[in-house]
Amino acid sequence: MNIQSEHNLTEQLPQIWESLQTKVQRMIVQLKGKTPHATKNGVYDNIRNDWWTSGFWPGMLWICYDISGKPVYRDEAAEWDIRLEQCFIGESRLHHDVGFQFLLTAVLKYKITGDEDARRRGLQAANFLAGRFNIAGNFIRAQNDDKIGRAIIDSAMNLSILFWASQETGDPRFSHIARAHAETILTRFIREDGSVRHIVRFDPFTGEFAEALGGQGYGPDSSWTRGQAWAIYGLANIYRFTGERIYLDACRKVADYFITALSEDSVTVWDFRVPEPEMEPKDTSASSIAASGLLELAMHLPEAEGRVYKSAALKMLTALTNDYAVWDDPEYEGILRGGTGHKPEMKDVDVSLIYGDYFYVEAIAKLKGWNRQIF
Ligand code: GLY
Repeated sequence: MNIQSEHNLTEQLPQIWESLQTKVQRMIVQLKGKTPHATKNGVYDNIRNDWWTSGFWPGMLWICYDISGKPVYRDEAAEWDIRLEQCFIGESRLHHDVGFQFLLTAVLKYKITGDEDARRRGLQAANFLAGRFNIAGNFIRAQNDDKIGRAIIDSAMNLSILFWASQETGDPRFSHIARAHAETILTRFIREDGSVRHIVRFDPFTGEFAEALGGQGYGPDSSWTRGQAWAIYGLANIYRFTGERIYLDACRKVADYFITALSEDSVTVWDFRVPEPEMEPKDTSASSIAASGLLELAMHLPEAEGRVYKSAALKMLTALTNDYAVWDDPEYEGILRGGTGHKPEMKDVDVSLIYGDYFYVEAIAKLKGWNRQIF
């Protein structure tokens, strides 16, 4: 596609949305029976249902249904919360990312259709997430196995299911936990310059800070771009739920850093602090997540103050639409090329990632006026 500038993006939204619908309908046929995560040679893999990304494909389908009302999307999305619930019954490796998984299946389904079983599944996930809170250190445990003391920035996005559960049940315990973890994000993750750590390890017994870890980023002091994007979007959501100014300010600080660090082409490299960024792979998923998060941030500001964030989001979406979205290859299953899953482990580099695809669709849907605010 050839969108001349970010100003034309809004004018050409009907065409982009139409192309996305064609694309998603083709994906329905191509992805039948799969839980997609990352592409290999343009074909999506089929990952375990307990893997953190299992909600993104159904989430994309629910958005398409919500906007178009076409049963083809609903029929494909409707069973996913039932499927994912099985992970609570059998042995599974679910962790803090139940937020991503159940917000986009159970909670979104409940919001759109009113299905009470979907609501129950969403609350079950919120209970599970609340159970991972460590009162020593005030953090939600992120990962499994022996990683007992680890919190990660990605959790900022998962807090929304806790806030939702409190709103839904009238029980403030969920939001108490979300707020406690949110404070830890402010004190332990966000650096003075607005960059963000990926992993912080605490002593799980005393709650004392032990160390920062590089995780999926270049190193402990680096700036993994997807982590920066999770922080922008997560902090904007925390502000929406709490109304506390400190989260809006923190969100702006991280967003300002992000926009300043962005290269001329408006598409994020996988880590802002790699030695030679121009030689390194991009991560288009960081761009689409950040774009959707910046749109959320802009909504909470007066128009004149929000403009800079909306404009950055439009620039990123324009670049993604022109240079990374795959419109014309009917065999290619992903939407955005150029995603990087885990560069330090050389896993899923320069591929399509289902979460990159999801947040691109979500951001375009927001520009079209879709306002469920599922995160
Ligand atoms: N939540 C893991 C990732 O962003 O890769």
